[in-house]
Amino acid sequence: MTLGPVVGRDVELAMARRFLDSTVLEPGAFLVEGEAGIGKTTVWAAAIGEAESRGIRVLQARAAETEVQLSYATLADLVGADFDVTRRALPPIQQHALAAALLRAELDDPVQPRTIATAFVGVLASIAEAAVVLVAIDDVQWLDPASAGALSFAARRLPERVGLLLTRRGDPGEPPPLGLERALPEGRLERLTPGPLSLAALHHLLHDRLGSAPPRPALARLAEASGGNPFLALEIARALGPE
Ligand SMILES: Nc1ncnc2c1ncn2[C@@H]1O[C@H](COP(=O)(O)OP(=O)(O)O)[C@@H](O)[C@H]1O
Ligand SMILES: [Mg+2]
Repeated sequence: MTLGPVVGRDVELAMARRFLDSTVLEPGAFLVEGEAGIGKTTVWAAAIGEAESRGIRVLQARAAETEVQLSYATLADLVGADFDVTRRALPPIQQHALAAALLRAELDDPVQPRTIATAFVGVLASIAEAAVVLVAIDDVQWLDPASAGALSFAARRLPERVGLLLTRRGDPGEPPPLGLERALPEGRLERLTPGPLSLAALHHLLHDRLGSAPPRPALARLAEASGGNPFLALEIARALGPE
């Protein structure tokens, strides 16, 4: 997560703002992808901050590699807090199914994943009656398969005024996750790959986080060694210590 101000991402944040504007009109998804440390979570968190400041209802979860085996772990993070309020909007069979998925009820019979996914869409639609909704998930490559199934299902049936804000670690050349390329209306998947930070942005970053930044020749070497990756730049600068 970002510990200081976001630097050097004006273009990326402007894209995120435009996406939030458009979500009011039509469901869609904004996918931030790229290598580890390049700043995906930072852009994601800034977009959430912007959404919240506009009164958008944000349901958020950060998928974790250690929880990939836990069924519906991410779904529970997304809707757990709202379930008690929204459950009444669902038919009883869906209420039971979602309650079981969220580990709030026991069931005698196995629950159909489709029933849970349908209930999830119902919860989104119910919340979206009162506000624009942003479903924000960091690191979708670590979604547990059950949550991923429910989200893919939901992506194909996104209610009005619901948007997805996702990050994925990986090669932007790969197809988007959750079947998004086929799930959404034409032109409603926006993909963003944050590039290397500029020299000026790296200077700001090091200054903000470490209290000082190296002089320009050393900064240029650091930019080259890190490829403009802010995580690597911070690691290298910390390892080198104050010059
Ligand atoms: N634009 C930025 N401004 C300030 N700090 C940043 C920026 N981008 C990344 N960082 C910092 O770099 C590190 C890695 O960023 P992060 O967003 O976690 O990367 P990713 O999610 O792509 O792995 C974090 O410490 C983060 O605070
Ligand atoms: Mg991250």
